Amino acid sequence: MQPEPGRVLLVGAGPGPADLMTVRALRAVQSAGAILYDALVDPEILDLAPAGCLRLQTGKRAGRTSMKQDTINRLMLRLARRGLKVVRLKGGDPSVFGRVGEEQAFLEAQGVATEIVPGVTAASAAAAQFGFPLTHRGEARRLLVATATVGEGALAESGWTAAADPETTLALYMGRDQLGVVATRLIAEGRPASTPALAVENAGRPDARPIPATLANLADMVSAAAPRGPVVVIVGEVTARAAVAIQPQQEARQA
Ligand SMILES: C[S@@+](CC[C@H](N)C(=O)[O-])C[C@H]1O[C@@H](n2cnc3c(N)ncnc32)[C@H](O)[C@@H]1O
Repeated sequence: MQPEPGRVLLVGAGPGPADLMTVRALRAVQSAGAILYDALVDPEILDLAPAGCLRLQTGKRAGRTSMKQDTINRLMLRLARRGLKVVRLKGGDPSVFGRVGEEQAFLEAQGVATEIVPGVTAASAAAAQFGFPLTHRGEARRLLVATATVGEGALAESGWTAAADPETTLALYMGRDQLGVVATRLIAEGRPASTPALAVENAGRPDARPIPATLANLADMVSAAAPRGPVVVIVGEVTARAAVAIQPQQEARQA
């Protein structure tokens, strides 16, 4: 797909490697005049842009601060009005915790057409890489994509009944620092403490690291693994199907 001048494509780059992008996303990058990209977008993908393409990083990396959302919005608008083919590139799927709705609403209100190009989200990448399904007949009839907090880090108050249903697979984004309170709340709502879970650091990438756990020890297992990359946490029976070798030190911690 060729982004038309004056139009902004809101594109999912997938979880990392370029071969996990859609062909449509690849074409958008290859024909972009300007790319505004988030911190989780792999440099390998940016290398696919044309030589003269303007590349602007909008997310934090190596201690730099993120651009404010308002600044990003105004930049996209200015570049589109200059007639550039603008690609707003985000890690994973732009519609999953990617603020795509806010950016689309802003641009459309300014008379700039947008189009969303989907991407492989972190939970899908984790499941595929470690060989387990997110839903499974008779075992997991619901996939709940969630983050634990709302606003300024307060624990969300709604949705716990569905999350505690034994047939729900919970995919938790941006939840690494709340795993203790999330697990406690799920157990209080009736989810067995023995429910298997899998945290995956750098899902979809060659350096992906699976951290198997149960609800009872999830927070301790992830904290002991001290991940440095992004982490998605999947809670539910389906994770028992993951092809993950448990290391001896993990077995000791699980005992
Ligand atoms: C702002 S959200 C963006 C999610 C992204 N739009 C997606 O669909 O994957 C950032 C969070 O997504 C998760 N995440 C994104 N990429 C990941 C990856 N490659 N491996 C594990 N978790 C990832 C982490 O929970 C991270 O804190």
